[in-house]
Amino acid sequence: MTEHVHGTERACTAHKPAPAYCGEGIVTETVHDRGICRVSVLLRPAQGALPVPGQFYMLRARPSGVLLGRPISLFFRETRADGTLVLSFLILPKGTGTQELCTASAVTLFGPLGNSFPDPRGLFPDKPQPRLLLIGGGIGIAPPAGFAALLAPQTYDFYACFKAHAYGTEHLRAQKLVIAAEDGSSGVKGMLSDVLCTDDVRGYDAVYACGPEPMLEYVQRICRESGVPCWLSVESRMACGTGACLGCTIRTAEGSRRVCTDGPVFPAHTLVFPLQQAAARGYELHEPAENPDLSVTIAGVRFANPVIAASGTFGYGTEYGAFIDAARLGGICSKGLTLHPRTGSTGIRLHETPAGLINSIGLENPGIPHFIAHELPPMLETGTVVIANLSGSSLEEYAEGARLLDDTAVSMIELNISCPNVKAGGMAFGLAPEAAAQAVRAVRRATAKPLIVKLSPNAPDLCAVARAALGEGADALSLVNTFQAMAIDIESGRPVFDNIRAGLSGPAVMPIALRMVYDVVQMMNTLAPKDRIPVIGLGGIGTWQDAIAFIMAGAHAVQVGAATFANPRCMTDIIEGIASFMKRRGIETLDRIRGCAQRTE
Ligand code: FES
Repeated sequence: MTEHVHGTERACTAHKPAPAYCGEGIVTETVHDRGICRVSVLLRPAQGALPVPGQFYMLRARPSGVLLGRPISLFFRETRADGTLVLSFLILPKGTGTQELCTASAVTLFGPLGNSFPDPRGLFPDKPQPRLLLIGGGIGIAPPAGFAALLAPQTYDFYACFKAHAYGTEHLRAQKLVIAAEDGSSGVKGMLSDVLCTDDVRGYDAVYACGPEPMLEYVQRICRESGVPCWLSVESRMACGTGACLGCTIRTAEGSRRVCTDGPVFPAHTLVFPLQQAAARGYELHEPAENPDLSVTIAGVRFANPVIAASGTFGYGTEYGAFIDAARLGGICSKGLTLHPRTGSTGIRLHETPAGLINSIGLENPGIPHFIAHELPPMLETGTVVIANLSGSSLEEYAEGARLLDDTAVSMIELNISCPNVKAGGMAFGLAPEAAAQAVRAVRRATAKPLIVKLSPNAPDLCAVARAALGEGADALSLVNTFQAMAIDIESGRPVFDNIRAGLSGPAVMPIALRMVYDVVQMMNTLAPKDRIPVIGLGGIGTWQDAIAFIMAGAHAVQVGAATFANPRCMTDIIEGIASFMKRRGIETLDRIRGCAQRTE
């Protein structure tokens, strides 16, 4: 070896932490090579011990739209004459965090973290030159290839395996270098098992490997069969990287271990594959579907696809006409309507939060008679399903509004008992089962139109409210409306909104809304099939993946709200994304996946 490499056979967890780096790094170079990025980061003069490839840093682009750093293994390090340190990382851009890193000019990072492969001189003190075999698979080539760069040239063999072309081999000075690619684009055509077997491993003193889990499991097996000690570097999702959150824990033969501090390099014999048990798949895989059918039917109304514009975010169906053809949508919900015109809230009405939007519009609308005479006709001309969203501040007002709408061509009425921005009525009807039942009963008597009841996430017992609405004749439920929230202007020391409380929507609420839809569908599934009604999911949906998740939770359709403000074409993007997903996964109709995530707990 050309220099000292530290590392231990077993992870070392009870020690005084070495001084580490925490701060900004300047990206000096990003090389894009057929889907992989090599990012070089300049640090100010190094602090403490030098990092060793095999260890990792938590990296986040600066600025970034993600909350957490991403654990990225060190690939190569270079100490410059001026004392600065340049760290290189190989990054596969597969999510927002890694995509950002591949285009960033600066990053925030902390590390080095975790252990590395053991120092062969420490493992075999009696051998002047232990025989080492290093193996890297895919993006997992970074730790062993970076570690190999610290070893004396020609003292090790290296196997590098890829799906397609090779990368990350530039620092290797192996005695024997074998490259394999499954598509034959580099080296030998095939996988690791095509170029390395149990007999090939005999004769090595130790094997170090990192790569996809099936490859690691194979390496573990051939090393066990050949009796060669082996160390494997594994991956896990991480939040803290320091051992504090316990989010990266895996089960090993020696009990639970934290990948970030007990690893990521573990003696192979301690690992139990799969490292994290995959959840049972909720639906069968099929051949790609040529023409998937996105249509859904709710209370006898057919929607061409499951994407509906949420009330209050798409006006009366024509405001976005320059950007999107409303006919392509599954349906549109009108702005919240009351019997009489409302001027809405005074003061500030919008306040943006990280990943969210708080609004206090206060149901400004022209009143139902005006809507029927002026806004509804062009809305009906859009050529999609039209839903009138009905609000009110008393049972009489709700009932009279429903009577007027009953005499129109709207396809459905969505009864809003969940608006947090009106002082009387509104959400108050949606908080308690008895009050919800009264409102639904009053409207049910006043109209024969299919009736959707829109529920509030602020109800202490949402399932009880859902049952009450169902019991009074709701044909479908939509959930959830906005979450009651507030904001404070710290310069004035006053609440931002005149009404103090307002409604939070946007990506911040999506996982909570998803859970609520899951819960209500789960409750629905306890009823006899004839008593169940469809659920329409909403709350922070901004991507086709969000929409699919709601359908897998059991929703028949979804509504998209605040995301349209950021991207007026968001809903057609979602429809196209759903169609592509269905084609790719062989899902002919949404019934095939609806509720597949539901399970008996
Ligand atoms: Fe937090 Fe490992 S990532 S304990």
